Amino acid sequence: MLKRPKPKSRKRDPIPPGHRFDGSVRDVNSEGQGVVAHPQGRIFFVPGVWPGETGVFEVTSLKGRMGFAKLLSLGEASPRRRPPPCPHHGFASGSCGGCPWLFMDYAEQLARKEQSVTKMLQPLNEALTVAEIWASPAELGYRNRGQFKTDGQRLGFVAANSREIAEVHDCLVLNDKNRQTLKDLRAQLPNSPWRPDRAKAWTTLDIDDHITATEVSAHQRRPFRQGNSAQNQRMRTWLKDRLLEAGSLDHVLELFAGSGNFTEVLVEVGCQNIVAVDSFQPAIERLNKRALSGVTGLSCDLDRSATAAQLHKPLSSAALLLLDPPRDGLKNIGDYLASAKELRTIIYISCDLATLTRDLKVAMTHDFELQEIQPLDLFPQTPHVETLTVLGR
Ligand SMILES: C[S@@+](CC[C@H](N)C(=O)[O-])C[C@H]1O[C@@H](n2cnc3c(N)ncnc32)[C@H](O)[C@@H]1O
Repeated sequence: MLKRPKPKSRKRDPIPPGHRFDGSVRDVNSEGQGVVAHPQGRIFFVPGVWPGETGVFEVTSLKGRMGFAKLLSLGEASPRRRPPPCPHHGFASGSCGGCPWLFMDYAEQLARKEQSVTKMLQPLNEALTVAEIWASPAELGYRNRGQFKTDGQRLGFVAANSREIAEVHDCLVLNDKNRQTLKDLRAQLPNSPWRPDRAKAWTTLDIDDHITATEVSAHQRRPFRQGNSAQNQRMRTWLKDRLLEAGSLDHVLELFAGSGNFTEVLVEVGCQNIVAVDSFQPAIERLNKRALSGVTGLSCDLDRSATAAQLHKPLSSAALLLLDPPRDGLKNIGDYLASAKELRTIIYISCDLATLTRDLKVAMTHDFELQEIQPLDLFPQTPHVETLTVLGR
């Protein structure tokens, strides 16, 4: 029997790196890059452009169904565009890349962040109004911590997807104390002890405004801190008010507690029987050393499926759950909620909208209702947005 010829697959023409095209920016993605459609339909992500802008773009790479391009020339510019106030800002190899939205007016950055929170979370409770985003009191000079990279000759930052150290002489988002530390560290160049081992491309130098350059050690991780002190204070005040409203002050479980930034607030308002959990042993040791009244600090990895069972006792008695996870969220939140029968309130502080949305959807299947959404800007000049939420059962 004759075989029928297979129909030819209707593959699109490949769009090679280097190919140029005209386009307009229709949105920004969660990384803060512009979303631009190629005339053939493929979507490209482009740094340094804003919705509504048009331009000529050049394809830089393709990864699976995703495409990346750079701006060659701007056609119609956003009226809110501004000259970036930092000489290290840029998107080419060798630029800092640390403040991808520095070219845009701050009010416009805030509006965009608020919109993305509304787009993701409003569908979870249409009756709820997303509160107006809390701007950072300072749009520059706010960062209380940072991490430099050095090879002993150069010192600066490394842009995402780059292996090249961008030499940085000053950094406008660091607060004054940290800017001075940067200057003092640079004065130590060249510095052969900072030369990286063969296995590493660079040596890391972590700084924060509790230390000076003489106290900085290579590859020494500093304890986690919320990176914007003024906004951290605002989060703590917000938390205090919500705890007083919730009224469920006995039996509290705090996951991703670090060394107790929010645990202090729990104690301050009179919470009792607090179990605070974090995987970073030194943070929990520091918390336990402080001997806060009614607090037991536990070190465990909350991503492990066995941990929910290990925490069965505090989970089964908890009336209030406080969460402040890293970007991955609480992956197996369903396992935790399944044994939390007494739980009335969840306060979820998140630095990633996608995982927050995922986790809130799971919480809703456990009879929780989203009751408050408060966006807050911890990191001006970046697409990062912090979201404070309250859920009630
Ligand atoms: C956003 S920080 C919050 C810390 C603290 N709430 C604060 O305000 O300083 C996230 C915390 O999650 C911890 N963490 C990250 N992955 C974890 C895991 N798999 N299990 C438990 N804790 C984890 C980190 O050590 C870090 O302290």
